[in-house]
Amino acid sequence: MYPSPAHPSVPWRGKIERLVWGGLGLGRSEDGKAILLAAPLALFPGETVEASVHWKARHGEGTVDRWITRDARRAKSGCAVAEICGGCDLWEAGTAMGDLKRLMVEDLFSRQLPEKEQWQWLPAPREVRRHRIQLHWDGRTLGFHRRKSHQIVPVTTCPAAVDSLSGAIPRLEEALKARLLPTKPQRWELATGTPPGEVYAIAEQGRTWFLEPDGWHAWEGPVSHRHGELRLQQSAGGFYQVCPDWAFEAFGQVLEGWDLRGGTLFDLYGGVGFFSALLGHRFQHRCLVEFDEPAVGWARKNLEAMQLPSECITADAAEWVPEHLGHSGDTVLLDPPRAGLPPELCERLQDSNADTLVLVGCDGASFCRDVKRLAPGWELASLAALDLFPLTHHVECVGRFTRCR
Ligand SMILES: C[S@@+](CC[C@H](N)C(=O)[O-])C[C@H]1O[C@@H](n2cnc3c(N)ncnc32)[C@H](O)[C@@H]1O
Repeated sequence: MYPSPAHPSVPWRGKIERLVWGGLGLGRSEDGKAILLAAPLALFPGETVEASVHWKARHGEGTVDRWITRDARRAKSGCAVAEICGGCDLWEAGTAMGDLKRLMVEDLFSRQLPEKEQWQWLPAPREVRRHRIQLHWDGRTLGFHRRKSHQIVPVTTCPAAVDSLSGAIPRLEEALKARLLPTKPQRWELATGTPPGEVYAIAEQGRTWFLEPDGWHAWEGPVSHRHGELRLQQSAGGFYQVCPDWAFEAFGQVLEGWDLRGGTLFDLYGGVGFFSALLGHRFQHRCLVEFDEPAVGWARKNLEAMQLPSECITADAAEWVPEHLGHSGDTVLLDPPRAGLPPELCERLQDSNADTLVLVGCDGASFCRDVKRLAPGWELASLAALDLFPLTHHVECVGRFTRCR
């Protein structure tokens, strides 16, 4: 008999059989029931651990308390608060980080997309760091949220971020404590451009300050990102890739490998034009749809400055997509937020006349769900997973679809 779900937890000791999607390790009870285990600092298959487990109807869920055996590849964490901070969960993966993440993606794809046995994996180079971090200020302390909690873990550095952002954390805290910036409890974002250097602090409502040697100054200008010859500008509080230079390179490798080209590129959920900039020169026309008005304004300017004039439309992507979208030779690229595509958009795309569709998703589970929703009319032809979020278990998934004939 297993303890009832109301029971707080029971100790379990055993081997991590394999890694599964979500950064979890899979263990088994003596009678073969699955146990999903979370650990703050990465798990390696084959390690033996002690954990506290809660039993559900058919499986257990728990957290690792102690390692009995450790994989020889486990490395010392580069972050003093890695064990409690809710930000990164793979610090101790060391040089095996890419391999561990590939195993997690393999688990997801083999269960959700079993017919697609071949897929491409792009691990992140070790030096890749974040260009954006989200901090929380409760009126007295600045830091990150503790794992699975709203409590604040005070921090003075963040080794997951580029040096200029990490170095700006104490400057932000000083200014908040000295009441030189709004002191109400709220979320603060620190962001930098590409290449990294200058630092912006963005309050929850979007008000922005720029860091100078003498302190923070109100800022209403854009943040700039250079990718080789291309330059994209954005409003400081708007969306941009978290590790932009690596994202540009990684998407470039995958999408150029798929040799996308033709008549019109429909860049849906287009932001300030990241994908139109990357691929636009391969198409005769470009049409970008995005519901954030300032982003659309920047997209228009960005693409014009790159000699890639585009129709840039402020609209909800699902509402905008017309019946029979596009023509033969066109590509529809969709890069929705984490929740993925609305079902009505998948439905509407069934009768599109374009002959290629590309789906980008930063949440693997929603991505796989959308691949299935698109399936009646669209066949998944190529699949890739890109490690755009190093030090965490998150990955970006990308699929290329052709029309089912
Ligand atoms: C994951 S971001 C991708 C942005 C862009 N493709 C890039 O790579 O920089 C998703 C974008 O979709 C926009 N968005 C969210 N919901 C939307 C909707 N219903 N219709 C249109 N755009 C939306 C967001 O403002 C954001 O810019």
